Amino acid sequence: MKLLALASLLAAFSAQAQQTLEATGRWQHQPVGHAMTPPMGWSSWNAFRVDITEKKVMDSAQVIVDSGLAAAGYRSINIDDGWWLKRRTSDGRLLVRTGLFPSAHVGAGKDSSLRPFTDRIHAMGLKAGIYTDIGRNACSQAYDADSPNLPEGTHAEREVGLMGFMKQDVALFFGEWNFDYLKVDGCGLSSYGRDRPHVASGQYREYKPTIVEGSINQSDIEGTKKLYAGLKQALHEVRPRGDYTLSVCLWGTVNVRSWGQDYGSMWRTSRDIWKGFAQMVHNFDTVATREFYAGPGRWNDPDMLEIGNGDFGDSHLLEARTHMGLWAIMAAPLMIGTDLSKASPAVIDILKAPEVVAINQDPAGHQGVLAYADSDRQIVVKTLADGRKAVLLFNRTGAPAKFTLTAEHLKMDATTPIALRDAWARADAGSFTGKREFELQAREALLFTATGKHVLPKGYFVSERPGSVYVARDGIRALEQDPVVYRALASWSTTDNGGTRPAYAGWGGPRADSTPYDQALSVQRQAFRHGIGVLADSRLQVQVTPGSQRFTAKVGVDDSTRGKTAGVSFEVWGDGRKLANTAPLKFNQAARELSADLRGVKLIELIARQHGADTAGPVVVTWGEARIE
Ligand code: GLA
Repeated sequence: MKLLALASLLAAFSAQAQQTLEATGRWQHQPVGHAMTPPMGWSSWNAFRVDITEKKVMDSAQVIVDSGLAAAGYRSINIDDGWWLKRRTSDGRLLVRTGLFPSAHVGAGKDSSLRPFTDRIHAMGLKAGIYTDIGRNACSQAYDADSPNLPEGTHAEREVGLMGFMKQDVALFFGEWNFDYLKVDGCGLSSYGRDRPHVASGQYREYKPTIVEGSINQSDIEGTKKLYAGLKQALHEVRPRGDYTLSVCLWGTVNVRSWGQDYGSMWRTSRDIWKGFAQMVHNFDTVATREFYAGPGRWNDPDMLEIGNGDFGDSHLLEARTHMGLWAIMAAPLMIGTDLSKASPAVIDILKAPEVVAINQDPAGHQGVLAYADSDRQIVVKTLADGRKAVLLFNRTGAPAKFTLTAEHLKMDATTPIALRDAWARADAGSFTGKREFELQAREALLFTATGKHVLPKGYFVSERPGSVYVARDGIRALEQDPVVYRALASWSTTDNGGTRPAYAGWGGPRADSTPYDQALSVQRQAFRHGIGVLADSRLQVQVTPGSQRFTAKVGVDDSTRGKTAGVSFEVWGDGRKLANTAPLKFNQAARELSADLRGVKLIELIARQHGADTAGPVVVTWGEARIE
């Protein structure tokens, strides 16, 4: 009893510690699993939905090996929804649909087992993934009701999700069956309300939704986190060494874009992708402004690839390259979603493109940052471990478009030549000084690596290395939906309603080279192209590169602030000691220079502390030109 009380006290304390404004002096991100670079592999879902068989999975796995995709890094072979027969009620054991997965039939009178499957996959030098749901029921049971492959039996037998069976199922998946990767969906929490036909008809038990898509205020964020915390604990018990990948699949709901990094190796930031170009752009947008939430061991997941399918199939290789380039520059997980037994060499070459994959898998794990954006064109820059930059130019429109790439986009010196290398052609693409013009075809994305002289003689801007930042506290008080995500019509929806609304919370989170509300950084009319925009009452942790000497920034309340009366003081802490701070600064006061000695410091914490309430709204602050030298 006493132990329990202590454990829950500790849990409450650590949850609080995570959000406190006060410096903790230690890097707070604890990786879940061991995905130090974006996970790569193949999943059955986009190719087959619930219509899967062991043969289909093995055929694609064989192509993964034979085509060189495995050697390129695609190693995880993931079974998605559709593998289960039922939960045996006498002991809660999950049974496999052996008609579809014959190797799971391990002998008369014996329990079905996916161990022969994982053994075969492992023997091929690959890893194996499986799928479940955090609630009682899975997505297919709500959305693929006509499939003959759904779980069978009584209500209880068809409740194949983790709820009530967390430890047992996780032990089965990672212990007995020896899987390496688990995707955990959330339909059990969202899609079994009593108004749903499959519940109203009595087919499934009601589960009052705790995730309400489109309504952040009606969704139970803390309750959902608690369930995933239980999952994390169960995983830790079976795999204490952390040798697994956990994919959290909550489609960008319940503010998971902010907390997913603490509960999974990767977390979906958007609804399901499908093989339409506009949908792919929507999914891309849901990660594009979340650069400070990803890094080694934690990845924003805009969903699995559609390369090889529909708008990204053989007659659309330009679009396929665009999709691949976008996922690469965003350090997104690369999960192939096509039937590889039917994929053309051209499609396989796009998936395999070594210099494109290398950009995605760069060990520094920085996500690309928007260096230019309008509704039609984007320029994204990703810092690579060796100091080069990857840069992607993206024409979102259906017509050719002109681009100017500048040295400033790359944070490189405008008077020194910058050498470009085409990541697709694997060839040098000339060099330029200052700027260079491009004309892109409709829907095209160009992808280069760039080598030049950094604009800072030594050192870097913090906004260039988002993977070394942990958002310990974002300063957001009231959750709001992010309006900048392109609102493509989903394949399954029609226009017979009021429209596709902004859907994902996280609006107001910190941004690289932008304010949290997508404005240019500016303090008392002094503009900053480089810097961090964040709300007051925030704390950002920044890992410092060894050998660094000094942190400097020009700080103040941003001109775009909503709250214009409260003062904000800025503090820099190093390994838990206060190194520098300002007096409270207010709207329309000039930016102050803040400087701190970093010798011997491993971790700095940037705290913007608000003094007093501001009834007009959040106070937006700017760490202009925040840099480490
Ligand atoms: C959800 C997920 C998909 C897929 C299906 C399976 O829609 O987002 O990726 O796993 O469920 O039913």
